[in-house]
Formats: sequence, C-alpha cells, structure tokens
Amino acid sequence: MIRKIFILLFLATGFLTARAQEVSISKGWKFTVGDSAQWASPTYNDQHWQAANLNDNWERQGHPNYDGFGWYRTKVVIPSSLKDKSYLKDSLRLNLGTVDDNDEVYLNGKLVAKYGGYGGTIKDGHYGGRSYTIAANNPAILWDKENVLAVRIFDTGGDGGLVTSGYGSTFNITMADVMDHVAVNTEADFVYGDNNSLSKSVKLHTTNAYQYSGTLAFKVTDPENGTVLYEKTNPANFTSGKPFTYSFSIARLAKRSYTISYTFTDTKSGKSIVQTETTPYILTPYPTAKVKINGADVFGARPGHPFLYLIPATGKRPLLYKVAGLPECLKVDAATGVISGSVAQKGNYPVTFTVSNSLGAKTKQFTISIGDNIGLTPALGWNSWNAWGLSVNDEKVRISAKAMIDKLSAHGWAYINIDDGWEAENRAADGKIVTNSKFPDMKGLADFVHGLGLRIGIYSSPGPRTCGGFLGSWQHEDQDAQTYADWGIDYLKYDWCSYSDIAPKPDLDGLKKPYQVMQASLGKTNRDIMYSLCQYGWGNVWEWGADVNGNSWRTTGDIQDTWQSMSTIGFNQGPAAPHAQPGHFNDPDMLVVGKVGWGPSLHNTRLTFDEQYTHISLWSLLASPLLIGCDMGHLDAFTLSLLTNDEVLAIDQDALGKGANQYIKKDDYQVWVKELKDGGKAIGLFNTSDKYQTISLDKTDPAIAGYTKFRDAWQQKYIVVTGNALTAKVAPHGVLLVRVEK
Ligand code: GLA
Repeated sequence: MIRKIFILLFLATGFLTARAQEVSISKGWKFTVGDSAQWASPTYNDQHWQAANLNDNWERQGHPNYDGFGWYRTKVVIPSSLKDKSYLKDSLRLNLGTVDDNDEVYLNGKLVAKYGGYGGTIKDGHYGGRSYTIAANNPAILWDKENVLAVRIFDTGGDGGLVTSGYGSTFNITMADVMDHVAVNTEADFVYGDNNSLSKSVKLHTTNAYQYSGTLAFKVTDPENGTVLYEKTNPANFTSGKPFTYSFSIARLAKRSYTISYTFTDTKSGKSIVQTETTPYILTPYPTAKVKINGADVFGARPGHPFLYLIPATGKRPLLYKVAGLPECLKVDAATGVISGSVAQKGNYPVTFTVSNSLGAKTKQFTISIGDNIGLTPALGWNSWNAWGLSVNDEKVRISAKAMIDKLSAHGWAYINIDDGWEAENRAADGKIVTNSKFPDMKGLADFVHGLGLRIGIYSSPGPRTCGGFLGSWQHEDQDAQTYADWGIDYLKYDWCSYSDIAPKPDLDGLKKPYQVMQASLGKTNRDIMYSLCQYGWGNVWEWGADVNGNSWRTTGDIQDTWQSMSTIGFNQGPAAPHAQPGHFNDPDMLVVGKVGWGPSLHNTRLTFDEQYTHISLWSLLASPLLIGCDMGHLDAFTLSLLTNDEVLAIDQDALGKGANQYIKKDDYQVWVKELKDGGKAIGLFNTSDKYQTISLDKTDPAIAGYTKFRDAWQQKYIVVTGNALTAKVAPHGVLLVRVEK
C-alpha cells in the first residue's frame, strides 16, 4: 500500500525549534502609556502601573485609540542552570511575543536590543514577532538574581503594545542552543510532474558556526488515520553557507493533503528539530480550450464617468469579442474584450457578450448599470500590503498588473491596488500630495494599468499620517481626491490610523465623519472611485458603512497568515454578514494565500492547503472583496488554482450580493449558507477541528429541503447524494463548498 502510493525518486529535504529549557515571562507584566527614560531603571517603582494582559493590545486595556510611546516591565530570575544545561553556552534568547509597532529592550537599565533587529528608529514601526539573542557574558544579565526587563514601545497607529499574536506568541527566556538558527527551508514550490508525481527540494541550513552532522528523517503521514505512507532516513551534513538539500518525489493519487515531517537529528549533541508541512492538491479543473465567459453578471458605473470593463473569458487564444446592445458612447475592443467610453444616461442596459475562438462561440447576458451605485459585486483584485508592506514600488505594481492580465483577468480579476508606502515625505508647495521615489510617475503607472484593461487603486488616511507613518489626507481631502482623479485612480482604501489624533474618543458621528468628508470630496471628481473604508470594524461599521457610501468596509483588525487569525476573523463575521448588499460589502481583510511577507522578504503562507480552501470558500460565501495579498510575480500552481475557480468566484460575485448566514455553529464544525440570485444556495460545510470529520445535513433540513442537485463548487461536478443526507468527509480545517439547485 505504502509503496504503491509513494514512489521515491530522489533523496537528498521547513522551520522548527527544539524544546529547550526555558524561563517563562508570560506573567507579571505591568505597563503604562507615555515615555520616560527613568522607566528603564531597575530601581524605578512601577507599583502604580496597570497589570498588563498580553492577550490584548493597550487600546482594549483602557487606552482606546492611543498611538505613541508606552512601556512594559516585568521581573525575572534568570537561573545559571539554564546556561549549564545548554549545549552551546554562549547566548541568551529573549522571546517577547509580538511588539506593535517597534521597541527597545532594557535589561536592568541597559539597552540590550532594539527595533526588532531592523535598522531605522523606534518610530519606523515594524510590528511583528520579537526574539532577540544577546551574549551570555553581557554584563546586563544578573545570573541567579532578579532582573528587571523593560520594553519601550512606540505605536505608529492602530493597535499597540506587547501582545501574543500569530507573529510571535512566546514569552520566555532560553539559551540559544545548538538547534537555534537551524531551519528546514520549505519555501520552494511543489512541482507537479508527469505520472502524477509531486516533487520538491527542501534545504537544511544554519547561520551557526557549528558543523552539523546527523540524519534527516522524511516521513509522509495520512492525517486521517495516522498511517505512515512513506518513511526514509538519510545522512545529512551542513554548515553555515553550505546547506544540505533533500529532494523527493511522491505520487499524488488522492485529492487530499498528506502531512510531511522532516526531522533532523544532530549526532554529537543528540538534539533534533522537526518541521512539518502538508502536500497540496488541486481541485479546480484546468480551463478547457473551448470558450467560457466568466465573471459577474453586472457592472455598475456612474453617468458621464469613464467606463472600463474587461470581459473575462477563458479558452484558446485568440479570442474575438462582440457585444450586442451596447449603449452608445461605449465601444468594445474585439481583440482584448475591453469595453470603454462613458454613458451619460442613467439606466440598466442589458447587453449580450459573444466570445468566440477557433473552436466555437459562447454568449452571456450581462447588465451595464448606469447610476449612483457602483461596485455592485465585491471587488476582485490585488493589494500590495500583505505581500510587500511598505516596500511596494512601481515595478512590483507593474509586475502584478502584468500577471493579472496574463493569468487572472480571464476570471474577473480587475483591480491593482497600491496600499501604504507610495507617498512623499512632504506635500508640494501648493499642498498637493506627491509620490516618493519608488513611484516616479503615478499617472504613467495608472495609464499602464488602464492600458491593460485593468483598474488601479490607492491608499490614504483621514489622519495626518497613514498607519505606516506616511502622509495622510487630513485637511487636504478635496485636493487629494482631485489628484487621484487626475492620475486616473479607480479605488481608494481610506485607513483611519492617526485620525485618532484628531478624534481620540469618537462617538458614532465622529466615526462616520472623516469618511463622509472624503466621500464628498470623491463625489466632486469626474471618476468612479471605489471607496474602501478601513477602520477595523469600529462602531459596528457594517451597520452604517453603506450610509457613508462605502463600497466596502473592513470589519476587523489586520489578518495574518495563520489559522488562528484567518479562522477567528472569518468565523466571526456572523453579525456583519446580513449587511452585505450590492455596492456595499463587508471586508474581513485581504487574502493570505501564496507568498506573503508584509515587507521585502516573503514566505509561503503558513495556512495549510485545506485552510486555504476554507479561506477562499468562506470569503466567497461572505461576498467579501477578494484582494490577493501575495507576490503576483510568483504564482505557484496551487495558488493559481485557488484564484481561478470560476464556480467559486461566481459565489462571491453573485448579483444578489448577500453575505452567508452562519447557519450552524458548533465547537468543531460550522455550516454557512448564502442565498443566490438564481434561487439556489451556496453552502459551506467547514471542519474547524484538527481531525477528519464527517459533516451531514439532513435532506429535510430547511437549508437544503426541496433542492435536488448538489454541485461541488471546487471540483465543478455534481455530487451524487444517496440516502437521507448530504454527507461529506471533510479534512481538518477544510471545507466542502456546495451549490444547491432545485
Ligand atoms: C493598517 C491596515 C492595513 C494596511 C496598513 C498600512 O494596518 O489595516 O491593511 O493598510 O495599515 O500601513
């Protein structure tokens, strides 16, 4: 059985940590906002400070909307036994969970670490996990005595403080040991070969000056029953600069994920590290050579404004596009399928698309809706943030636009959105917002994106500064909106950030105000600019986001590429979901599939492949804007398959615009049901547990009673339902997404 399923072709193999002795520092912290050099001192009396809850930011501990400096302090005895028991005895490691945004660390009054290891200043704001290594002979360390650990934090905007989060949740002190700085790098793509093979190379590497010599155990397990499908141990030796590469090739026979573990054991020290990952499996059928017209059934634009829509269609190129019933002043480019022009008169214009190639033609009914409401279906696009963070530049945006047109626009993807980090240090003398050197020509960039038939987005804040510390639009709203329009911008993400400096404790009107101001400014321009509100869900924004004419509104804080973050956000959208409607959608934040990083260096999303199916399925059920947050220059086969499933995207893009109802919510599974325009429903059966599970919906259950056809949306095929229930065996953290029809 084992040998039949897995064939090893080559030998030669993610990140892991050995369980070292540790001293916990997860308790006893006190904190205060403000700043004083004295607070680093071991003799400072912090008795009157607040006890800190590391599970929460300081906003939720009595300092709403606070940005700026704050300090955390705790006391800890560092026993010399920690050093004695370690194999390498030279360095101490301080694991400080996550800092939001940037920090300096003082041990007994002496500065021992800063800025998360980045350069810059404390105000540069690199929120993230903190793990600092300091020499064991650093005189700041008082072995076997009480040490005072003080962390000075600067929060540039949004949430702030010392917290437990996906970026870093460990609060302890350990010795840096032989397996620290050793990693199994699993970043390479899986390669889908002929004969159903799945191959990959992984690398064992280190930055330590130690000669690693031992074994690498490669093991593949079926998560359903723990059966070991393949196991092989090989010698593995590596040193700094000379990694060990292990390549394998296994068969991929079943449509499901297996678990791979890589265990390196160093012979001399006897220490080991384990890294695990799962194997990808593709459900989306490969597009056929025959024409298929994809995308939403409707597109809205305002009268007299520039109109741009690319007819999404797959099939063997070249394709020929025709549109019957096109309102006057709109024209379609027969070779690209781009419809452009402008329509003066309000109204719904039914049109018929015909797309043909050498194999035949297809038609589709479509509505061009000219009126005040735009963004009638959720935006499908890319945003730079989850990939590049503040390191976004013109080139990365162009690469993304090119990739979108080459690989995604045929499925309806249309927006290329620049997030924070494009703004210059100062405005021009006349107050006009200008770009920084990473964006030499914003108008040129917008022209390039439009030239492809795509639309372009930008980012700002109602406050004086954005969350990344760049210039915001405070008191320049009209001017900025006009500048965006002059450049040709089609989408604005407007992020609260430092607006708390203007309105520290806003009531409901105060929360709405900055969004109304910018909405009025956008309304004075001659462009359709999709308006994306970002204020993390404050004041139940889903209840009033449509009133301030938001096309979407963020319902949560920032997402991370972890199951904890994605599932907590996604499965808590119940209260917001009923407020989704055409033109106005909940935004549970951008996608974390593919290669993400929030900065110049990227990594594969930490979501398993089943978690990624859950992510896209749930966001589609929620009618969320789908904003890809990965490196578009590097879309691996699995990620591409996730983003190009037309039947899944059709659920997101359904013209009824409804968000799914959280129909069943149990500890280990959930069922979400979304009503569709054609009278059908899309239903997600989600396994939220970490074990395989069979989930059933009785045929008499009101969610499916009266429906006779059940279609697996990912596999795009009907499911034969025998017996009295729709029953599915669902992988851990996985989903079955079904479309039911009468
Ligand atoms: C906030 C937002 C993010 C991103 C950053 C940019 O954190 O929630 O989506 O826009 O700001 O600085």
